Amino acid sequence: MSRIGIVAEQPGESRIAASPTTVAKLRALGYDVAVERGAGARSSFPDDAFARAGAEIVDADAAWSADIVLKINAPTDAEVSKLAPGTTLISLLSPALRPDLLTALAERGVTALAMDAVPRISRAQSMDVLSSMANIAGYRAVVEAANEFGRFFTGQVTAAGKVPPAKVLVAGAGVAGLAAIGAASSLGAIVRATDPRPEVADQVRSIGGTYLDVVVPDENKEVSSDGYAKATSAAYDAAAAKLYSDQAADVDIVITTALIPGRPAPRLITAADVASMKPGSVIVDMAAGQGGNVEGSVAGERVVTDNGVIILGYTDLAGRLPQQASQLYGTNQLNLISLLTPGKDGVLTIDDDDVVQRAVTVTRDGAVTWPPPPVQVSAAPAAPAAAPDAAAPAKKTLSTGAKAALTAVGIAALFVVCAVSPAPLPQHFLVLTLSVVIGFYVIGKVAHSLHTPLMSITNAISGIIIVGAMSQIIVPDPLVQGLAAIAVLLASINIFGGFAVTRRMLAMFQKGDQK
Ligand code: NAI
Repeated sequence: MSRIGIVAEQPGESRIAASPTTVAKLRALGYDVAVERGAGARSSFPDDAFARAGAEIVDADAAWSADIVLKINAPTDAEVSKLAPGTTLISLLSPALRPDLLTALAERGVTALAMDAVPRISRAQSMDVLSSMANIAGYRAVVEAANEFGRFFTGQVTAAGKVPPAKVLVAGAGVAGLAAIGAASSLGAIVRATDPRPEVADQVRSIGGTYLDVVVPDENKEVSSDGYAKATSAAYDAAAAKLYSDQAADVDIVITTALIPGRPAPRLITAADVASMKPGSVIVDMAAGQGGNVEGSVAGERVVTDNGVIILGYTDLAGRLPQQASQLYGTNQLNLISLLTPGKDGVLTIDDDDVVQRAVTVTRDGAVTWPPPPVQVSAAPAAPAAAPDAAAPAKKTLSTGAKAALTAVGIAALFVVCAVSPAPLPQHFLVLTLSVVIGFYVIGKVAHSLHTPLMSITNAISGIIIVGAMSQIIVPDPLVQGLAAIAVLLASINIFGGFAVTRRMLAMFQKGDQK
């Protein structure tokens, strides 16, 4: 049975790599757990809460000498030297940016698992700390902006006057951007967002934002194959710069989250854009730590420009919700350890054939094992449809001439039928024909997703049928009475069935306690 040590972070980091809940679950996986004394204090997880969950509270040396060390941030040089050969370290490691650190860990004989190397695939979502931290950070970016902004986010009509809603622009609609859009729109702001990946447009709309498309003539936007953007073209950047200039002069809050992995943050908002913003406007540059999306932002700092615009470059946004962030980080790490402990026997095993386990393993047996082989991720677009089989018969479509001839035959037939039928049949027949034609074109234009609500509306038509049938049922002719009775029965089935379906649909949108 191995021993897990949860160590305290450096000053300035308020999170811890576990919570009492995750400690109890690590114990259930068969591990002994030791938590460094006071490590959870800044996340409001006191030592006795960890002790009650089954952890032993130990000093720093004892925590660092465990078989498996859990951490949030990459270790400092001094911390690397505290790790005994054979130890497994699980933490953020920025493997692409810190080859020196990987070499140091490999030389020390440490097996290092990088939490920030979890691939963006569906199966690994429960271990994806970058997403869970970016989600918290996006939310917190809005809270920080609201804290600085001198007005409501939501519009109000008060006795003292009308208050317009704040306008928020979110640049980059990845995990952090979507969280920011959701938070800002739930506070009542008008939210706009833009992103080079066209597939995010629906996601933006679904959480209350308006998607601003950067239109580039003659450029086809590709759906991302790995959930990350590719470098944008010069034409795209020029069109986007125009959009940002227009928006900067209009909005009150800008939150930038644009990132392309392995590159410095793209510069989106220029000093001229900032200068065009209204005094009291707030910009949160979430990418300040990677060089910044906004000219004039400073990593970790709050800057106020000459025209009174506040630029926040905080790099610890997730850590500003330390208890929540520790809980989610700890759960992501627990999920990884659970994957590595198939026997639930407190023995960590790494299976190189598993893409997730291989991807996170950045040093092993004294060697650097980064980068891993590429992973086929779930966000990849579907394979293009197979080329049409030349041998297969082509779908037959009528030529314009044939369509015109058919229409002429139909109209002629209608005239003949109307001419030979006794009154008032031609009149009814004409109404029927027109309603079929109009209905065909109207319903054909309704989106598929609206067909079910459309069916509910046909209840109204059934109501008219019932009224008509009831007016006929008094006619002293058994045939008419029989047909009227059948019409009432069928229309009633449609009405009551429609209500039943509508009720079931509405129930799907109700929360448990509303049912
Ligand atoms: P993500 O990869 O999910 O999203 C980044 C988005 O930026 C993608 O949707 C991408 O298409 C978009 N993008 C790329 N180039 C762009 C361009 N030229 N214009 C507009 N959009 C562009 O990344 P995630 O996880 O949402 O993180 C976003 C940023 O927030 C990163 O820079 C990350 O390091 C940072 N971050 C900052 C924190 C803080 O405390 N300040 C905490 C967590 C994340």
